[in-house]
Parts: sequence; C-alpha cells; structure tokens
Amino acid sequence: VADATAHWEGVYAATPATGLSWYQAEASTSLRLIELVAPTRTPVLDVGAGSSSLAGALLARGWRDVTALDVSANALEQVRVRWGADPRLHLVVADLRAWRPVRPYGVWHDRAVLHFLTEPADAARYAELVAEAVLPGGGVVIGVFGPEGPTHCSGLEVRRYRAEEVGELLGRSFEVVRTETEEHRTPRGTAQSFVWVALRRRARDAE
Ligand SMILES: C[S@@+](CC[C@H](N)C(=O)[O-])C[C@H]1O[C@@H](n2cnc3c(N)ncnc32)[C@H](O)[C@@H]1O
Repeated sequence: VADATAHWEGVYAATPATGLSWYQAEASTSLRLIELVAPTRTPVLDVGAGSSSLAGALLARGWRDVTALDVSANALEQVRVRWGADPRLHLVVADLRAWRPVRPYGVWHDRAVLHFLTEPADAARYAELVAEAVLPGGGVVIGVFGPEGPTHCSGLEVRRYRAEEVGELLGRSFEVVRTETEEHRTPRGTAQSFVWVALRRRARDAE
C-alpha cells in the first residue's frame, strides 16, 4: 500500500490487540529463534513490531537494547503502556521502506511484515536494509506466510514465501541456520501457515 500509515493506524484504532489475527500471547518461536542466532545479547531490532509482546519478553529475559519499529504510533504506544518507560526500550515510528538505520543491530526480527511488501522494489529495499542494519556475525529471524498460508491479511494482498525464497532475497552474505513451519492459530480459531527462517550474516560478505 502506498499510504501504510493510514491503513495500519486504522487497523489498530479499530481492533484491540488481542483481537488482531496475528495476535499471540507469547512470541515463543521468535524468542527461541532469536536466542538461537544470537547467543550474546546484542541490540535487537523488531521491524513491524506492532503491539507485540516480544520487546517486553526480551527485556524480561535480560536483553539490554531492544528497538521496536512500526508505521503505527498507536501500536507502539500499546507496547510502551504495557511495558512502561524503560531506557532499554526504543520505539521508532517509521515506514520501513523510507527508514535508514542510524546504528547497527545484532539481530533483525520480523514476524509477518515482509509478506506485505508485494512490490519487488520494496522487497529489494527490505533486503538492502537488512544488510545495512545487521552487523557481520549478526542474526536475522523472519516469519512470513508460507506457500499454504493466507493470500490476504488485514485487507491487504500478501506474497507467500518458501523458506529458500527468503534466503535468496537476503543473498549470499547470509547463511540460513534454521527453517521451520508453524501453524499460527488466530483469535477466531483459523490456522495460518507460517514459514520461519533464521539466518546469520557471514563474517565476510560473499563475492
Ligand atoms: C501482521 S502485523 C505483525 C505485528 C507483529 N510483528 C506481531 O507479530 O505481532 C504487521 C505489522 O507491520 C506493520 N507494518 C506494515 N507495513 C509496514 C511498513 N511499511 N513499515 C513499518 N511497519 C509496517 C503494521 O503496522 C503491523 O503492525
């Protein structure tokens, strides 16, 4: 969508967090895969964080520097209200496609955001951003709708991914460490098929 802000602010204004199709009480897969790719607690960036409990869960587990970025200020405000003000928690209101990292991160996390970037130029920009944001040796954890997943979410068309396609998008500077599938159950009881890919940035960029 051209105006992502208007769309997503509308979504978060209309529906409480626990009623959103992507709601989960605990971001268990995310936490497990983040701790797999990042054995040390480096700065984490959660893109399209929404009102997810992930940032708070990371802080509760002793992570010291967590950034949640989303195009919806309302969603991030829900994170702040739930967790409280905390110098370790950084909230960034931005459209990912127009954003540039001002500092590097040890982990990039994305649950259910990449699949909305259906324009090839936006997906390519996403891959550039991961490469700009993540330090050599750093980790990337991406969860997207898999081949059997929904074709639409929140009224928007999505692109479904096979795990290999996520690896190909990020390119040879990243090594796939783990792929998994997960059936997410929405609050209304529908199953949604997700593909998870955990990658590590190679110490030296591949030629
Ligand atoms: C399906 S929700 C997932 C939220 C969260 N990651 C979770 O797992 O609960 C997608 C999120 O991506 C955000 N989003 C969509 N397009 C975006 C963009 N271009 N830039 C930043 N955030 C975006 C939306 O506001 C929304 O919060």
